[in-house]
Amino acid sequence: MKIAVVGSGYVGLVLGACLAESGNDVVCVDKDEAKVRMLRKGHVPIYEPGLTELVKRNKDEGRLTFTTQLSRAVKASQIIFIAVGTPQGEDGSADLQHVLGVARDIGKSMDGYRVIVNKSTVPVGTAEKVRAIIRRETTHPFSVVSNPEFLKQGAAVEDFMKPDRVVIGAEDPRGAELMVALHQPFTRTGAPIMVMDCASAELSKYASNAILATRISFMNEIANVCELYGADVDRVRQAVGADRRIGASFLFPGVGYGGSCFPKDVKALIRFSADKKYDFRILKAVEAVNDWQKRAIVRKMEEHFGSVKGRTIAVWGLAFKPKTDDMREAPAITIVQSLLERGAKVQAYDPEAVRIARGIFGGKVTYAAKGYEALKGADALAIVTEWQEFREPDFARMRQLMRNPVVFDGRNIYQPQQMKAHGFTYYSIGR
Ligand SMILES: NC(=O)c1ccc[n+]([C@@H]2O[C@H](COP(=O)([O-])OP(=O)(O)OC[C@H]3O[C@@H](n4cnc5c(N)ncnc54)[C@H](O)[C@@H]3O)[C@@H](O)[C@H]2O)c1
Repeated sequence: MKIAVVGSGYVGLVLGACLAESGNDVVCVDKDEAKVRMLRKGHVPIYEPGLTELVKRNKDEGRLTFTTQLSRAVKASQIIFIAVGTPQGEDGSADLQHVLGVARDIGKSMDGYRVIVNKSTVPVGTAEKVRAIIRRETTHPFSVVSNPEFLKQGAAVEDFMKPDRVVIGAEDPRGAELMVALHQPFTRTGAPIMVMDCASAELSKYASNAILATRISFMNEIANVCELYGADVDRVRQAVGADRRIGASFLFPGVGYGGSCFPKDVKALIRFSADKKYDFRILKAVEAVNDWQKRAIVRKMEEHFGSVKGRTIAVWGLAFKPKTDDMREAPAITIVQSLLERGAKVQAYDPEAVRIARGIFGGKVTYAAKGYEALKGADALAIVTEWQEFREPDFARMRQLMRNPVVFDGRNIYQPQQMKAHGFTYYSIGR
């Protein structure tokens, strides 16, 4: 099929590359000229495992092209995905200006039947709005489909290629049928393609992210109670996760959730529920717990040192999770800023996110090229992102480099006994 994907970010680029991989002709559109120039040269501007190879291969095969010209892409395609950002607006609602702006431009360029797909995460009712905007611009027939994306950064290509399910919200069979056909190559192992109304599809995405955020905040509270009673949250987590009704994933306590989705999607769900006079009490608590938890390791440091003023703190991990360079709403931002405000010196290391971190903290933080370099003369190490390379370090070398052998592990990647044996004072979450 001939496909256009508008917005070539984490979602749009993965979507475009994966659809090209299954044989479709895909044109990726972005308004960012520098990004399009890079992509045309085969350079992928974000870090996502496997994506560079996929983009290069499909570009070289001629199935994947890049442009800033929306109008031409619309004319050349049967299906047009909208995968632009829906950032948090000032009142917590999802800011739809990019989605609706693209919908209008699509309407203006249509020269026949098209399927317009909302891939961006959008509040319930957005498909209706998109339909109304396009209707104002064109007399040609069209279908609007809601097709929320469930991929996770760090494993985006794999998630897209092997989805747990595909959700298609459609109000007419023509659009739904094309979308089902497009997704069949990715669901051969039996993952369901669920066709439903647009409102249900839109809400499915928010409900999924909100329940995952809720599990994280819930376990962070359990971890805090573990600390008060001397229980071990790892044991509790394993016991709870073994229950098939509950399952083991998203039960890891830590420094709170971040990223480009959970924080804004939780806020947006609270907000559009409130628009219908519904007070989403659980999610308000989920947010409050998360804000508190992001400060957990700085609180522990202040308890340990009295004050962190004048201390040198090494930070391992800045990205909001491993295998991505994304720092949107990363707990590291709250932690580093809070350390700087309290007069600490921060020496940070991250395998992928330093370029982005420089844009956030500028010269207020010293960036190390290697993990061990960040430890030189440090009074403590804070582990904020659980990158694989932090899991089995040379502890003797770490001790040698640090001024004080103190570790604040915000991701529970080491065992308390092991750290004691290596001569560290060790703090973690809920143990
Ligand atoms: N990142 C994720 O893990 C993830 C997962 C599922 C769903 N989503 C949702 O998908 C959407 C996109 O997220 P993302 O992380 O890919 O965002 P992103 O910021 O990485 O990418 C958005 C892209 O859209 C481009 N863009 C904005 N306005 C445009 C316009 N008018 N014309 C052409 N291009 C335009 C931007 O230049 C940018 O390259 C959001 O609604 C998000 O909530 C994201």
